[in-house]
Amino acid sequence: MTAPETERTSVPEAEELRERALASLTTARARTTLLTSCVEDPDLTAQHSPLMSPLVWDLAHIGNQEEQWLLRAVGGREAMRPEIDGLYDAFEHPRAERPSLPLLPPAEARGYAAEVRGRVVDLLTAADFHGSRLTEAGFAFGMIAQHEQQHDETMLITHQLRTGPPALTAPDPEPVPLFPGPAEVLVPGGPFTMGTSTEPWALDNERPAHPVDVAPFWIDTTPVTNAAYQAFIDDGGYETERWWTPEGWAHVRQHSLTAPLFWRRDGGQWLRRRFGVTEAVPADEPVLHVCWYEADAYARWAGRRLPTEAEWEKAARHDPVSGRSTRYPWGDADPGPAHANLGQRHLRPAPAGSYPAGASPLGVRQLIGDVWEWTSSDFQPYPGFRAFPYKEYSEVFFGPAYKVLRGGSFAVDPVACRGTFRNWDHPIRRQIFSGFRTARSEAL
Ligand code: AVJ
Ligand code: FE
Repeated sequence: MTAPETERTSVPEAEELRERALASLTTARARTTLLTSCVEDPDLTAQHSPLMSPLVWDLAHIGNQEEQWLLRAVGGREAMRPEIDGLYDAFEHPRAERPSLPLLPPAEARGYAAEVRGRVVDLLTAADFHGSRLTEAGFAFGMIAQHEQQHDETMLITHQLRTGPPALTAPDPEPVPLFPGPAEVLVPGGPFTMGTSTEPWALDNERPAHPVDVAPFWIDTTPVTNAAYQAFIDDGGYETERWWTPEGWAHVRQHSLTAPLFWRRDGGQWLRRRFGVTEAVPADEPVLHVCWYEADAYARWAGRRLPTEAEWEKAARHDPVSGRSTRYPWGDADPGPAHANLGQRHLRPAPAGSYPAGASPLGVRQLIGDVWEWTSSDFQPYPGFRAFPYKEYSEVFFGPAYKVLRGGSFAVDPVACRGTFRNWDHPIRRQIFSGFRTARSEAL
């Protein structure tokens, strides 16, 4: 057997990179503007949950990171407002204390972010994409577009936690015919290439590409649905200790968890609150707002387990015909609307079995988009990892306190989503747009 070391190697031209960088930054700003202009100023400065920053903090933090990395690090410019750097340093001030800081008021935060962007556009016009590792292939611009989009997902989570009348609307995904199955597919064993050394805008924790040998395993062809998860609830899943890890059991007992976040039982049916609207929980949609402990317990109840991170990536990237790892389950093409539910086009996951054009060669659907998928793995560096360009993006989070999530949600923009992209959070977190699929070893 040959070790599959190959991945895509073609790198785009400078003009294409310039256009892509500008388009990615512009798309991100349109989203940021929508998320921060659909409510009145008091809703921007309020803290809607101790887990989240006030929206006005995210807004100025977006501008401040862009200033630090693009205007100062790449452009060599002086700090525009050195006195505010500390306010918007995520490590200096935990989220819970951000509302009490002397933050820029909404109009000033908007003005600051816009001023930074104007100067960045000028810089980009003359940018040279070969000077350093930071500018190579437009990396810093791509990193900052991804950073803004990541905060746009964070801000959407804040909107979901906010109570009061709805501020955001979006069309629902197209209805689809019921997924014909099968419920799971066998991924053959053997080595595959995990991570990337060629994707120009991949972040430090996705690097480098390295071979990983994965034993054969079965994986669900779709994420676990609300109907399937309700069967776990109806079977007393939350009251049955043996389905839970000791930490998970202590957590559900202590916090009296009985269902996913935002769910409420009304007589015989489950309702949920979604961006200010209360509605019946849709049976065929991937379950959303579950923590790692809940996903892990469900899998054990179902006689299965969560996939490891390597299994998830092999299911998403390994092409059994060529032996190559592709950028996405459907191949190397950038995500389009037929491939996946990304980019906040819809404010909910699409029914399980949607997006046949986005399926992997083995027929696994919705690996990209819809819901972030919990894996069984801790967030750890790949062999050969080097922090770049700053330790606080990934390195300070490596270790057993964080579990890896893969694939992106409906709230993630394509620029911040790849078959190699890694997200992480504490196993108790469920305000994030998290769901999961299950797996089992072949010889079960
Ligand atoms: C990768 C989503 C865990 O939001 O904490 C934003 C992304 N890093 N600003 C986070 C991030 C710095 C990060 N996650
Ligand atoms: Fe940030």
